[in-house]
Amino acid sequence: MSSNQNQVVVVTGASGGIGRAVARAFGARHARVALLARGEQGLSAAAADITRAGGTALEIPTDVADFAQVDAAAERAEKELGPIDVWVNVAFTSVFAPFIEIEPDEFRRVTEVSYLGYVHGTMAALRRMKPRDRGTIVQVGSALAYRGIPLQSAYCGAKHAIQGFNEALRCELLHEGSHVRTTMVQMPAVNTPQFSWVLSKLPRHAQPVPPIYQPEVAARAVLYAADHPRRREYWVGGSTVGTLVANAVAPGILDRYLARTGYKSQQTGEPKPPAQPANLWAPADRDRDFGAHGEFDDQSTPRSFQLWASRHHGLLAAGGSALAATALAVWRRARS
Ligand SMILES: NC(=O)c1ccc[n+]([C@@H]2O[C@H](COP(=O)([O-])OP(=O)(O)OC[C@H]3O[C@@H](n4cnc5c(N)ncnc54)[C@H](OP(=O)(O)O)[C@@H]3O)[C@@H](O)[C@H]2O)c1
Repeated sequence: MSSNQNQVVVVTGASGGIGRAVARAFGARHARVALLARGEQGLSAAAADITRAGGTALEIPTDVADFAQVDAAAERAEKELGPIDVWVNVAFTSVFAPFIEIEPDEFRRVTEVSYLGYVHGTMAALRRMKPRDRGTIVQVGSALAYRGIPLQSAYCGAKHAIQGFNEALRCELLHEGSHVRTTMVQMPAVNTPQFSWVLSKLPRHAQPVPPIYQPEVAARAVLYAADHPRRREYWVGGSTVGTLVANAVAPGILDRYLARTGYKSQQTGEPKPPAQPANLWAPADRDRDFGAHGEFDDQSTPRSFQLWASRHHGLLAAGGSALAATALAVWRRARS
């Protein structure tokens, strides 16, 4: 039995999308998983997923914008499942619209859920992990933690803010010599329900910007990060690497590129469905479970070579060194 089995794990945003896939993946290795989100249909379907996969599930309806609810959820998770080993912050919401079309209360709500929700989760986890001097916090981030894109101003602000606060926290934990770890996983575009239930003021149906990965790719990265939390950050997908490197080298060129392409690439050719729900203020899953996957299965890939390479960078470095040594030996022999 691996030491990761029977871990107590808390996942926020576990009712759908990446959080749902993460919770299911922990369930498959027999973890005890507390599921935090608001939508009761999604939560009970997530709990059934975990039980089927061999894990133990505890549904805790929670709005992550409210610290008291998050702290009470952590308390209940510890009482019913045991000391929390891993806390994964995933829950988020957004408004797809040009900045000028977002109302102040909408911007504030996105910030309270998508930024402060992570702050609240981290505080609730740390209050319990620090006295024990063990535990891991995984922040699910995005390439947009470093690079703003049009039509997603509130979301990009929240992701940048998470990156900043998490970096500061990591320095504090290192300063104290703490064994509590925090790491961040920057995701590419993923095929999740967000494009069907986030409040959209766009004329056409929102879509992830290709290449699109399936949520199971994101889940594999989160579990790997949870098992190897000493690394400060993980980048998932070649598109994330490309965006982050290009943004570090030539952000001005990217501004112009995104100004030209960013509106079209974030919308399909179809009009926005007139009855599309919005999950900003209340959950959208009242009449059905949305699940982990969104509507873009036919365009999404279940694998990432870059993620494999990131997980095996020691092996790749060793292989590269061996190749270089062989080439040098061959060259020397040819010269002698
Ligand atoms: N999909 C992508 O392309 C992509 C790309 C990069 C990064 N990410 C990151 O991955 C994470 C998940 O994204 P996703 O696409 O999987 O999102 P999603 O499909 O929209 O799922 C969001 C989850 O958050 C929950 N949630 C929303 N508001 C909440 C609130 N106030 N309190 C508690 N839970 C709340 C939702 O459940 P309820 O509505 O039931 O509460 C749902 O479980 C986010 O942090 C996002 O930044 C996603």
